[in-house]
Amino acid sequence: MAALLWLGLALAALLAWVWVHRPKRPANFPPGPPCVLVFGSLSATLELFTMGIRQALRKRRRLYGDINGAVSPTGLGIVNLCSLELIREASAMPELSGRPEILPLLVRSYMKKMGIIFNDGAVWREQRRFALRHLRDLGLGRKDMEEGILGEFEHLRRDMELLEGRPLQVLGYFNLTALNILWRVVASTRIDPSDPEARLYVQLVKEFFEMIRPTSPLGIAPWLRYIVPEWSGFSALERQREVINATFLRLLAEHRATLDRDHPRDLMDHFLIEMETTDAAERGFTELNLAVTGMDLFIAGMETTSTQLSWALLYMASHPAAQRRVQAEVDRELGGRRPSGADRARLPLTDATLMEVMRRATVLPRAVPHAAARDCHLAGYSLPRGTVVLMDLDAVHMDANHWGDPDKFRPERFLPRGRLRAPRRAA
Ligand code: HEM
Repeated sequence: MAALLWLGLALAALLAWVWVHRPKRPANFPPGPPCVLVFGSLSATLELFTMGIRQALRKRRRLYGDINGAVSPTGLGIVNLCSLELIREASAMPELSGRPEILPLLVRSYMKKMGIIFNDGAVWREQRRFALRHLRDLGLGRKDMEEGILGEFEHLRRDMELLEGRPLQVLGYFNLTALNILWRVVASTRIDPSDPEARLYVQLVKEFFEMIRPTSPLGIAPWLRYIVPEWSGFSALERQREVINATFLRLLAEHRATLDRDHPRDLMDHFLIEMETTDAAERGFTELNLAVTGMDLFIAGMETTSTQLSWALLYMASHPAAQRRVQAEVDRELGGRRPSGADRARLPLTDATLMEVMRRATVLPRAVPHAAARDCHLAGYSLPRGTVVLMDLDAVHMDANHWGDPDKFRPERFLPRGRLRAPRRAA
């Protein structure tokens, strides 16, 4: 009897604790679905599964406006921004330059924020500056990079010729092309498509994107890792991390063995030289951080560029008239010779077509989540420290008030009066 009484008391205490710590809407939080019992904004979570994130966010915008907020089952406030003005304002706020602590992202760096994309604070600022400076110096986005890009294109062209008219799986087709262009400046290596390692990298990045979807079990209930590590995907993330780290450590060892401090070849060499300075570790120049940064560049550069190119191919195939116009401009301006960056100004229609592909098929529809580094205000609402901020680029790209006919693929919208620029608001 006494044991039952104690058990009852313990249960009551546990329930009281759960109730007191239940997810709640912060004061003056942007409007959104209410919190229900201990489940946070239950309807918002359910709609992610039943409607998919795009439709769920569209519905929320219709109901609550361009800035709306929900609370996750773990108590995390999540704010969605759906207008160009709000996204511009938030992007310029240093308070919102933080990144959230998302479990699937933390696993890859042994539960600490590292790398460039999902990091913040002083070390992030230093690492970001370092990577940008050296990637630029090494040629990213400049003339000396063109040889690498054209070389990769040559591989692609030969590969396409071998198809001899057979169908092509477009999604993911450009993965290695994008990866190799980046890899040249990061590690001076090229991965041959027939190399099993190539397939492994592509697979790893693909799995990674699966894991960070808002409906991934670990994103919604991080504690699942303790109960069902295999089912929740936690163990898979740990395995990925080991494979990636081993790859980077091997490359780093090869670089270290052949390092010429007076003639650094790539980002890895620059990083190794920086690792020799006295306060290197405090500034984030460690082997592990290099592995995470390398993976970040894979994620940021490979999947995005590759998916965008796949969409470009699809839109050209499904809009033959637009394709003919681009081909005519390229033939007229280049006359069969290889293109260079300097030709861009002579190809406004081609440029406008690529812009329209990027508008119509937003590859990062909610950008990369931001987080409030400290308590702050946006549009008159309060965003407590830690609030996740999603910038709904897809909503902006498909806003009928701005574009008039957002569903239409119409590259000319970027060429008002024949000059390349973003169109003004239609209504
Ligand atoms: C079509 C191609 C690409 C698209 C659509 C794209 C899009 C984006 C977006 C939307 C963000 C989030 C910005 C924010 O935090 O608000 C981002 C961040 C980032 N991207 Fe890209 N990107 C592309 C290609 C690349 C490439 C090729 C690289 C590598 C050199 C790269 C490196 C990065 C990095 C390092 C960040 C994080 C920056 C930071 O945290 O401040 N991206 N990108």
